Amino acid sequence: MHSKRDSLLKRLHSAMISPAACARKWQGQYWQDNGDERRVSCAGCRSFDAARQRCSIRFGTPLRKCVVSSVEAHFHDCVGEEVLEVGFGRFKLARNLVVRNGSRWTGIDPQQPASRPARIGTGGHGLVNALPFPTATFDRVFGVQSIEHWGQRAGGLREPACYEDCLAEIARVTKPGGRVYFDAPIHFHGNEIFIMGDIDRIRKLFTTPWWENVNIERWRENHAPLERYTPSHKEFTDWPIEIVNYADNAVNAIRDNGVIWLLVITATRSDARLD
Ligand SMILES: C[S@@+](CC[C@H](N)C(=O)[O-])C[C@H]1O[C@@H](n2cnc3c(N)ncnc32)[C@H](O)[C@@H]1O
Repeated sequence: MHSKRDSLLKRLHSAMISPAACARKWQGQYWQDNGDERRVSCAGCRSFDAARQRCSIRFGTPLRKCVVSSVEAHFHDCVGEEVLEVGFGRFKLARNLVVRNGSRWTGIDPQQPASRPARIGTGGHGLVNALPFPTATFDRVFGVQSIEHWGQRAGGLREPACYEDCLAEIARVTKPGGRVYFDAPIHFHGNEIFIMGDIDRIRKLFTTPWWENVNIERWRENHAPLERYTPSHKEFTDWPIEIVNYADNAVNAIRDNGVIWLLVITATRSDARLD
């Protein structure tokens, strides 16, 4: 999955990405309504190649293919905005879409050297629970495969962050009417709420008065006719460190039968004050 060819194709896709092509691909309703949530099943996904019965994204794990599709769907309309990416790592797809639409991209990541502090218009060192930016700076704040790590215990790289503090800090730097986007794998790794797929607890993080129009998308939960993508032994090692609030039988059920899917959560910053 992580061959040289694979990472070359991934970089090429990000380098060549065009907001106009993504707007054409993802225009209109690309999801299926399911109560107050949205589903993007593989068979109904715009990235599904029906003739070949495979995903048309030709690199990455099944999860990364969904990440690519979701980023294409959510970031092609980012015109003339001030945008913050939290935990940007090395994946440039969203950044390229944002910049190619005339928006300004800023990124923070704790893996950047401390000697490179975060600054508007570039990527630098920073943590989501202490954003070094003034109140109401950004039209859009997002994280790709990042939110599940903020409250992670395993690895010992940093103190696990408190999600309530992180969301309060994001609300502070987001302009009223601004939008947020976070995607995360379910039944895979990171904080226990994501491993357990506890959507109620995840949704609850967005029930403070600062957020409205909270929307949840489930990508690849219905994976047919594509393959099941299941958690592996590599991830299981960290699960006992992460999972402290759930019964063994619930954890075992997910370990034995869980299928990894992509959660996408979006919301609008209300005009409610933080204090
Ligand atoms: C799995 S990587 C994803 C990187 C990139 N967005 C991608 O999709 O390839 C998770 C990223 O989240 C960042 N991260 C973890 N904890 C964080 C925190 N508390 N604040 C900001 N970023 C964090 C990590 O440093 C890392 O770059």
